[in-house]
Amino acid sequence: MSITPWLRRFSLMAIALVAVFLWQTPLQAQSLNPEELSEAVTQIEQLDGMRSQLASGLEGTNTEPTLETFKQVCKPVGMRAKQLSQETGWTVQQIAEKYRNPDHAPKTESAEFALNLFKENPTLVGYWDEETLDGQQGARYFRRINVEASCQVCHGRKGDRPDFVKNNYPQDLAYDFEVGDLRGLYSVFIPYLN
Ligand code: HEC
Repeated sequence: MSITPWLRRFSLMAIALVAVFLWQTPLQAQSLNPEELSEAVTQIEQLDGMRSQLASGLEGTNTEPTLETFKQVCKPVGMRAKQLSQETGWTVQQIAEKYRNPDHAPKTESAEFALNLFKENPTLVGYWDEETLDGQQGARYFRRINVEASCQVCHGRKGDRPDFVKNNYPQDLAYDFEVGDLRGLYSVFIPYLN
């Protein structure tokens, strides 16, 4: 039996595979702007720094913090995330398994996956993945959020939460954390250009 038909079929298949590869690779390279990727990482570091700074401002104050000072930690972070989304066309979110604001519940399989991955790998800080979100293809960045000592005034024991939290978030799940626990994650979805 001749081997030629088999060889022909094999080389046709190989050519097809290479064609698919060549067709896909430049497409993906073109559709991502590397500067946008690094800008997203920078913006998230700034957002996280803003929260840490606001929270540490509450620590060690002798006077009882007022309702207004208490409100000025995580709410502004959420507002900045929304503003960033509007300015850039990205989707910037905070996601948590034990959430306080139900808007921050995980809504995609990839978000659940990311939460588990961060939980199982305490030294993993962040990563990029490809994703299709609301029918759009793009790149998605996930960055962990850990609990610091300054968070405990509002995310510590259930009974110790400030009144404004108890009153405004009746379905609150974001308490009983220990320092170093995974609190949640930031996510930035950047749609491909084409
Ligand atoms: C003064 C009280 C207060 C402090 C201190 C505080 N938080 Fe929050 N946190 C809140 C409130 C209130 C919300 C819900 C905000 C909203 O409605 O979007 C929240 C929400 C969050 C969320 C979004 C997910 C969710 O559960 O809705 C994350 C993440 C978070 N906090 C992390 C932290 C971290 C990390 C720290 C410490 C660096 C911290 N928080 C300190 C009050 C606080």
